[in-house]
Formats: sequence, structure tokens, C-alpha cells
Amino acid sequence: MKRILITGAGGFIGRELVNQLSKNKKNKIIAIDNNIRGNLKSIDENKNIIVEKVDVRKKEKLRKIFKNIDECYHLAAINGTKNFYEKPNLVLDVGVMGTLNVIELVQEYKVKKFIYFSSSEAYQKPNFLPTTEREELKIPDVFNPRFSYGGSKIIGELLTINYLRNSKTKYYILRPHNVYGPNMGGDHVLPELIRKLKKSTKFLKIIGDGNDSRSFIFISDAVNAIIKVANNGAQNQIYNIGSNDEYKITEIVRILCKILNKKIRIKKSPRHLGSVSKRLPDIKKLKKLKHKNKTNFIKGLRKTIDYYYFDEKQS
Ligand SMILES: NC(=O)c1ccc[n+]([C@@H]2O[C@H](COP(=O)([O-])OP(=O)(O)OC[C@H]3O[C@@H](n4cnc5c(N)ncnc54)[C@H](O)[C@@H]3O)[C@@H](O)[C@H]2O)c1
Repeated sequence: MKRILITGAGGFIGRELVNQLSKNKKNKIIAIDNNIRGNLKSIDENKNIIVEKVDVRKKEKLRKIFKNIDECYHLAAINGTKNFYEKPNLVLDVGVMGTLNVIELVQEYKVKKFIYFSSSEAYQKPNFLPTTEREELKIPDVFNPRFSYGGSKIIGELLTINYLRNSKTKYYILRPHNVYGPNMGGDHVLPELIRKLKKSTKFLKIIGDGNDSRSFIFISDAVNAIIKVANNGAQNQIYNIGSNDEYKITEIVRILCKILNKKIRIKKSPRHLGSVSKRLPDIKKLKKLKHKNKTNFIKGLRKTIDYYYFDEKQS
């Protein structure tokens, strides 16, 4: 039996990770979260899944969980662009202090594998597109609270690499790029656009001039890729998690309007300070692990629309 600890398990990616990993009956999942954004109630406890409310910043409580853990996926973080601007202290507290606690316990309890969830935000405005894992990481302006998040992820990577450098723990650093799907939370571009379209009949206010683009990966594909890296990836390396399904905001609005049979005029507004115009990961390393995304953007978008547009209660 492999005992796998997942922090931030009640969140968007965490829930799907619990779901996919628990399908292997040789895995025992210990799912923890403090429910600040996610919700552990959405995970069904059974003989293969233990659920516990734990804050990663509370080291002594966390210590009790760490006994006999074989693998740790560390997802707990304050995600959501709005939070980066409005709660930079909390972003740093969880991202730095919480991550340090987790890594120190990984060391102390000699956990065999550690999977750290960094982010495409660590690249900020990349020098190269598509962006490989060798791209430099940066904080363009320390005074901009947005970079509390990207900064915390850079620190998390440094902690992972340097604290685990001389240990037997194998580590894997992941840099996800725009994972999307039903129940992904509200503070991301797709739910925001879909919710706005639900309310408005004439105009749709977008952030930026509409030419900004992102490449999206559907939740089940992202988690499939994550597990592939953890099981078959090269140890002590970094992997982009994403797709080359790149779309401009104006294109997304056009597709949404077509699917929903709506006619709308786009209203542009200034882009958030520090937001980048384009993200496109190089996913050659991921492809070498024979990973293939199965859900294309239109199919995934339809599922996301079903959740945010048609299911009143959930949106
Ligand atoms: N969703 C994406 O597109 C994306 C992109 C890049 C990186 N990531 C990273 O992947 C991870 C998972 O992202 P997500 O989209 O599922 O975010 P999410 O916000 O849905 O999940 C994060 C979870 O961490 C929990 N958490 C926060 N503070 C905690 C604390 N102190 N103790 C315990 N739990 C705490 C939250 O309650 C939440 O359930 C995060 O580290 C995120 O930064 C996600």
C-alpha cells in the first residue's frame, strides 16, 4: 500500500488528483486542506481516502499527518488573480511558510517522493515562446502585490531544490499553465467570461484589448499529466503542465457566443498591472512521457459552460 499525502486536496486540481489516484486500490490517500478556498466535503471518505482539515502553516498538527507517508503532492496555496492583488501577505504566508513546513517534514520523515506545484506565473513575461522549463524566472517589480504569488512559487522551487538536494527524496517540480474545467473557482478568465455572458445581453467587458492569449489544459488531462510525471518523469526535474491549445480572449468570446447563441459587443478595459499578454508552454518534456491531452478546448469549454452557465445553483 502506498500512502500519498495531498495538501490543498479540497481545491480544483486537488479533488481531481484524489479522484484519479484513488482509482488505484494500492494507493491510500490522505487528503488535507484548510477549506479557505476549496472544500474537503466534496471528497468522499472511504477505506482508501482519509480526509482531514489541516492548515499547512500549523506545523505541529501537520507533523501528525506525516508519519509513514510515501509520497507528498503539495498543492496548498492561495490561488486566484484577485487574491494576489488583495491578499499578498496571505499568499506569501501560505506559499512560503506553509511550503517550508511541508518540505521540512518531507525531509524529517524521509518521504520518498515530493511533487511541488509551482506555476507558469513564475516565468512572468517569458523571453521565449513557447516557453521551456529552462526559461529564467523573475519578479519584474517587487512593489506590485501581484508578484506575491509568482514570488512565492519561485521561493517554493528554491526550497524544494535546495532543501532536498542531498536527501534521498526524489522531487518533481510542476509548472501548470491555465488548467480549466467545471468547478474551477470564480477568479479565472473562463468562469469570469461565462458568468458575465450569463448576466449581460448587449455588452461584455473584457480585461485588456482582447488580443491577450492563453493556452488551456482540461482538468482531467492536467491531472493525468501530473501523475505521469510523478510516476515516470525524470527525478529532480521541472515539467511544464499544459497544452498548445492557444486562444485569444476575443476568440474565446466568439466561441462562447456561438455555443450560447448570443450576440454581444465587446467592451475593452485596461489590463491588470503585471498581467502578461501571452503564455504558451513548450511541452516537449511532457510529450516524451507519452502524455497526450484527450479533451480539446471546445469540448472542455462546453463542459465548463454547462457548469457555470446552465447550472444556476453551482454558479
Ligand atoms: N489552476 C491552475 O491553472 C494552476 C496554474 C498554475 C499553478 N497552479 C497551482 O496548483 C495548485 C492547485 O491549484 P488549484 O487551481 O487547485 O487551486 P485551488 O485554490 O482550487 O486549490 C488550492 C487549495 O489549497 C487550499 N489551501 C490554501 N491555503 C491553505 C493552507 N494554509 N493549508 C491547507 N490548505 C490550504 C485551499 O483551500 C484550496 O482548496 C496550487 O498550488 C496552484 O498555485 C494552478
